[in-house]
Amino acid sequence: MALEPRIPGQIDTIYGVWDLSTVPAFTGGFINFGYWRDVPRDRPLTEDDRLRSEQDLYRLVLGELGSTEGLRAVEVGCGLGLGCALALREFGFTEVCGVDLHPAQLDRARIVNAGLLAEHPERLRYVRGAAEVMPLPDGSAECLFSVNAAQHFPDLREFADEADRVLCPGGRLALATFFAPGACGVEELPRLLPTYADGLDLPHVVDDVTGALTRSGFSSVRAVPIGEDVWAAYDRWLARTPLRNLWPRRFLEAYEKGYLDYYLVTADAARVR
Ligand SMILES: C[S@@+](CC[C@H](N)C(=O)[O-])C[C@H]1O[C@@H](n2cnc3c(N)ncnc32)[C@H](O)[C@@H]1O
Repeated sequence: MALEPRIPGQIDTIYGVWDLSTVPAFTGGFINFGYWRDVPRDRPLTEDDRLRSEQDLYRLVLGELGSTEGLRAVEVGCGLGLGCALALREFGFTEVCGVDLHPAQLDRARIVNAGLLAEHPERLRYVRGAAEVMPLPDGSAECLFSVNAAQHFPDLREFADEADRVLCPGGRLALATFFAPGACGVEELPRLLPTYADGLDLPHVVDDVTGALTRSGFSSVRAVPIGEDVWAAYDRWLARTPLRNLWPRRFLEAYEKGYLDYYLVTADAARVR
């Protein structure tokens, strides 16, 4: 019998005891920093702008998967599952499977997306699993994506091996999240941001993820920094919330000091195994 994946303490507190999606840094059930390129900069931000930024981060990642009509996709770290729902509605997948480590997140995903699940019982599902051990057969998806989650993955090599196993030969991977551009971020981030000091976020260097994917046999591995369209606008959003005088605003400082950036990472699984 397969062992249940272990939930690290801070992940359990933040995504189990709490529901991070209710913190005003986020909106609409998403938990990501957002991609703000197409959000107007010349007027005060609205709740709709914040929601759009979170959805647009998904659209950016999903757009990197190429032609997705009729394909199967897996999302790793799906949270409340709204990105899976967006993928199903807007990108023409036949099946989308959201994987998350925390059962409380999956319970929320099933409630929030109850209508879509009832409409498409064969096309959308949410399952418990870890980035390092997914309860999915070999070669069971053409596409694998992840949004604002890989900063939590304890072992990027194990994640890369598992992504390669779950993807069909020639499958495509796209993920977006924040990593340190270099070693100096690894030292400074725990001093600046409590989520690094308490172990919720892990100070992975971006080369760790690209190196892990290459080592697992992926080709055309690329990491493109997109922080310019993430951090400043996210900080403007925080400034209009009750978090305006609190530490989350130090994410912008970490970016400006070069300790952290937001990346779009893409790779192709090997065509022959
Ligand atoms: C910041 S939330 C992002 C949720 C969603 N992708 C979004 O953008 O709204 C990160 C999610 O990753 C999940 N997670 C953390 N560590 C994980 C792991 N090792 N494997 C799979 N999921 C994990 C958490 O439970 C949480 O739901």
